[in-house]
Amino acid sequence: MLQMSSTFSSLVAVFLLFFLVRHTCEARDAFACDPKNAVTKNLPFCKVSVAITERVKDLIGRLTLEEKVRLLVNNAAAVPRLGMKGYEWWSEALHGVSNVGPGVKFNAQFPGATSFPQVITTAASFNASLWESIGRVVSDEARAMYNGGVAGLTYWSPNINIFRDPRWGRGQETPGEDPVLAGTYAVSYVRGLQGTHGNRLKVAACCKHFTAYDLDNWNGVDRFHFNAQVSKQDIEDTFDVPFRMCVSEGRVASVMCSYNQVNGVPTCADPNLLKNTLRGLWQLDGYIVSDCDSVGVFYSNQHYASTPEEAAADAIKAGLDLDCGPFLAVHTQDAVTKGLLSQADVDGALVNTLTVQMRLGMFDGEPSAQEYGKLGPKDVCKPAHQELALEAARQGIVLLKNTGPVLPLSQHPHQTVAVIGPNAKADVTMIGNYAGIACGYTSPLQGIGRYARTVHQLGCENVACKNDNLFGSAINAARQADATVLVMGLDQSIEAETVDRTHLLLPGRQQDLVSKVAAASKGPTILVLMSGGPVDITFAKNNPRIVGILWAGYPGQAGGAAIADILFGTSSPGGKLPMTWYPQEYLRKLPMTKMAMRASKSAGYPGRTYRFYTGEVVYPFGHGLTYTHFIHTLASAPTVVSVPLNGHRRSNATDISNRAIRVTHARCDNLFITLQVDVKNVGSRDCTHTLLVFSAPPAAAGHWALEKQLVAFDKVHVPAKAQHRVGIHIHVCKLLSVVDKSGIRRIPLGLHSFNIGDVKHSVSLQAAALGIIKS
Ligand SMILES: *[C@@H]1O[C@H](CO)[C@@H](O)[C@H](O)[C@H]1NC(C)=O
Ligand SMILES: *[C@@H]1O[C@H](CO)[C@@H](O)[C@H](O)[C@H]1NC(C)=O
Repeated sequence: MLQMSSTFSSLVAVFLLFFLVRHTCEARDAFACDPKNAVTKNLPFCKVSVAITERVKDLIGRLTLEEKVRLLVNNAAAVPRLGMKGYEWWSEALHGVSNVGPGVKFNAQFPGATSFPQVITTAASFNASLWESIGRVVSDEARAMYNGGVAGLTYWSPNINIFRDPRWGRGQETPGEDPVLAGTYAVSYVRGLQGTHGNRLKVAACCKHFTAYDLDNWNGVDRFHFNAQVSKQDIEDTFDVPFRMCVSEGRVASVMCSYNQVNGVPTCADPNLLKNTLRGLWQLDGYIVSDCDSVGVFYSNQHYASTPEEAAADAIKAGLDLDCGPFLAVHTQDAVTKGLLSQADVDGALVNTLTVQMRLGMFDGEPSAQEYGKLGPKDVCKPAHQELALEAARQGIVLLKNTGPVLPLSQHPHQTVAVIGPNAKADVTMIGNYAGIACGYTSPLQGIGRYARTVHQLGCENVACKNDNLFGSAINAARQADATVLVMGLDQSIEAETVDRTHLLLPGRQQDLVSKVAAASKGPTILVLMSGGPVDITFAKNNPRIVGILWAGYPGQAGGAAIADILFGTSSPGGKLPMTWYPQEYLRKLPMTKMAMRASKSAGYPGRTYRFYTGEVVYPFGHGLTYTHFIHTLASAPTVVSVPLNGHRRSNATDISNRAIRVTHARCDNLFITLQVDVKNVGSRDCTHTLLVFSAPPAAAGHWALEKQLVAFDKVHVPAKAQHRVGIHIHVCKLLSVVDKSGIRRIPLGLHSFNIGDVKHSVSLQAAALGIIKS
């Protein structure tokens, strides 16, 4: 160690102290209404005691048109004369605070943030309280970084578009293909992010991309030019569902419109979608933001308006409040001058954005004096947060195959495991897209290394796996090891934003490597897959030498530890697939541009998702094995339920002849079907069970063309030999209704069949007080 003179070391100590004091006192200055600014601090919009609506009105009354238009964009300008700083609205937090948007910058004080699994993996946990917990941790870290001056408070997450087509490169960002699952995910994650303190916001979340946006770039069609042709029926029973839930149940503070057109109208210029549906019907209390440069895109790429001023006016009049991109700051003032837009329209947009900033506390003076003001660097990447990232990965990993069962592997410290494949040492691959900088990584190789001696071989240079140059050494390693784990799959070079896949198979020669290694291996061969979208691994499913298959999605910063914990039985798998795994063949008659959910026999069109597609699958939606066996029994359930009709309206004779009641004609409040299900763990291991409840409408309602739909799910931990009773409450109007061709939601009368694991049960729905109906 270096010797220092005592004067020198005391000097150093003084300096250190100085830096520490400076550091701990360092806090973001107030965005507005700084108590140190005597000119502005007493203005009415700065008074915390005044109602937010009044404060917003006061502030807008003080702004000039020039100032207003510069607040319509993500990079909002400062208004120094009113004591307002500039603000960057664009931050992202899809599964952890991310630096994909310009609002977040990691630095020496905040070198990284907890990086949770990619959403498709977390969705596979089917655990709503986990989703909310993750949201709480992410918003703690976001607030801490905001206090430190390196992040915003407005996060454009989550992405809740339906994972409609298995090729979609952004499917990984979503909670999967089921509307109720996606909606429940949205509600839970948004609650976690925004907090539940009345009208106050911890951070503002954003459900995106409204709507029918789930194509990036396929066969010459890209998202900037795509016109999604969507039927009223599909809008109502598929595409709208997660957004409606996010807005009306999750009370999200923002919605983002998409790049694409829906039925010929750019979503960001469609008053029917923005004003009438989001704000009118669903009562959005928040702001509507464009996808980045959407307004520029519908002007320049889609030629939807003939001048830029018209495009600006179209967007604002449709209900857009904030432009990600410069377009509205550049063209709105001229639009007003030319009489295409009134200043009142601009004010309307500002009411929505400024209200959210006030709900966030941005006009309440210094952040350090406020509710989340004490959060700082110590609250980012803290052990409890990193532990939750590990726990989320354990809960989301899905066991697809387990012959024997060979898994879990026994724990002998002296055994050797060959860990092979281009994803064996994955780090950033594990966090998928819209990620930040992780606190640290545990790769699969490191994770497995905690349980056994490991030998690592790449097998393929990268996931593209263009040649077999490295096959030989991989095969050799498998020949000698006691067990072989192949960590294969995809990464962002294969599926990403702007990159849709063209096929569903493993890329390049991966399949070949897996088969050759499996044929040569001395011990059991386990295949671990990283991917956001489904992969056609029929070859591995059918190969008796591959005894176990795990799908890890993109399992986050601790993914390798979670994979190892499951392989060696420290944790048991309980995840279920949130999307259908189709065979490659499925794509033959399925242009990605065709939006229709329902199958069409005459057109040879197979339909999309488990709700409408009945053909062959590699693994179905909801598939996932455990290390035990669960038995379900129905403890109690009704067999007949009456649907009371709304006395004020008369049901329509056509409804009755169709044997279905319009939802708007039923009294829906508190109309639930309650099922009590006993779940028994008959195996010898404590395990977690994911309970999925599906319903199918009466057979006579065949013209709804719906096979079945998820109506409830729950997650329970059941110790070996124990039994747990689960109460399931199904909202009749929301969950048992179906949608007709004109987009009208109806409750079919007659026998609805429920499927819960091995249990089947039918409930007859009958209209009550039919007497009041006149035809
Ligand atoms: C009855 O329902 C049919 C089919 O939905 C509709 O066309 C008709 O307008 C309805 N009549 C009334 C009086 O609501
Ligand atoms: C759901 O997730 C939460 C948060 O991690 C956890 O505490 C709970 O045990 C999970 N539920 C089950 C049944 O695993």
